[in-house]
Amino acid sequence: MKKFAFALTAAALTVGAANSYAGEVEVLHWWTSGGEAASINVLKGLMVEEGHTWKDFAVAGGAGESAMTVLKSRAISGNPPASAQIKGPTIQEWGSLGFLTNLDEVAAQGEWDVVLPQVVSDVMKYEGHYVAAPVNVHRVNWMWANPEVFRKSGAELPTSWGQFLVEAEKIKAAGYTPLAHGGQAWQDATLFEAIALEKGVNFYNKAFIAHSDKALRSQDMIDVFNTFKQVRKYVDVGFSGRDWNVATSMVINGEAAMQIMGDWAKGEFTAANKKAGIDYVCLPAPGTSDSFTFNIDSLAMFKVDGKDNQAAQQDLARLILEPEFQETFNLNKGSIPARLNMPREKFDTCAHASMDSFLASSTTGNLTPSMAHGMSTSSMVQGAIYDVVTNFFNDDSMTAEQAVDKLARAVKASL
Ligand code: BGC
Repeated sequence: MKKFAFALTAAALTVGAANSYAGEVEVLHWWTSGGEAASINVLKGLMVEEGHTWKDFAVAGGAGESAMTVLKSRAISGNPPASAQIKGPTIQEWGSLGFLTNLDEVAAQGEWDVVLPQVVSDVMKYEGHYVAAPVNVHRVNWMWANPEVFRKSGAELPTSWGQFLVEAEKIKAAGYTPLAHGGQAWQDATLFEAIALEKGVNFYNKAFIAHSDKALRSQDMIDVFNTFKQVRKYVDVGFSGRDWNVATSMVINGEAAMQIMGDWAKGEFTAANKKAGIDYVCLPAPGTSDSFTFNIDSLAMFKVDGKDNQAAQQDLARLILEPEFQETFNLNKGSIPARLNMPREKFDTCAHASMDSFLASSTTGNLTPSMAHGMSTSSMVQGAIYDVVTNFFNDDSMTAEQAVDKLARAVKASL
């Protein structure tokens, strides 16, 4: 009886302890596809284990355009979530408006300055203070291919955009869709920046980071638009408005030969139990094997009321950087850990290639931020580029020369 009473007291103490620190975090994100949902559930599970309540606020829509619209209206009405998926320079935009909370203490305890590559930690800070926690590093310049479709079409895996056009013709003749694509502005921009990257990182940076008028109006940019229009011949008739993960499933099912997409696409192959190097192949986007366009996902933390909720929010930030989360999340997501020196054994060949390329490109200067995924420029300029790129893709009468002129003007007007 004494023993029983003791056990009850101990249990009551444990519950009491958990409750006194338990808070709620509301997390706004756009991870709704199969691979994405499996990834975010890892974080939810860890928070629940800590005794906190996870309030999921998922806003569907690839690359987060709809999520950002919802976030803005929540923030304007004075009711932002505790945490939101925000990336790149947009973190600075939110920081400058005074919405974000300071994570320096948890960052110091976790030695974030030591465990993160500087290219990652820089983006997580506003005026030198941590305000966001990185979950991963995605490589955007990837091509995902179905080897069976290539074999049946007698086509080779292309390593340049010129070769892409040749092989795509063979694939089309064999009755398959050469390029799985979804006609949404951000997917068009993802394809466009991969074509631009073949012209070299120097050109890419001048156009999408420095926004040099000369680069935007150059012959190289005219070539990029021309290739972009030629590539369009190899998407199927139903491409308009299609979600990216539906396009990935066309490659998985053997309906289409390839997709140009960041390695969140790998999350879909993984969720479908497909194996890298056997059921599908990952290759750098044509002509870009030496470069790495990065896209870092992060959760920024908003100022919230209440000690418990603030404690839960700091726990969330701490857990994100812990090796356990970084490994499991990224195995599901298709990306690589943001944290350095993580064990590699559980990761597949595509992730190994990405890890190697990330390190190699950071020493050669070929590591560059993705324009299409909000890493290279402000949301205003990105939106302006999106508009020109997507209008050109869908307008047969617009010439590449007209497109570069529109691009240069649109960028200038939104700087
Ligand atoms: C995000 C990824 C996401 C993808 C598709 C990208 O911008 O960084 O995490 O999986 O969009 O929604």
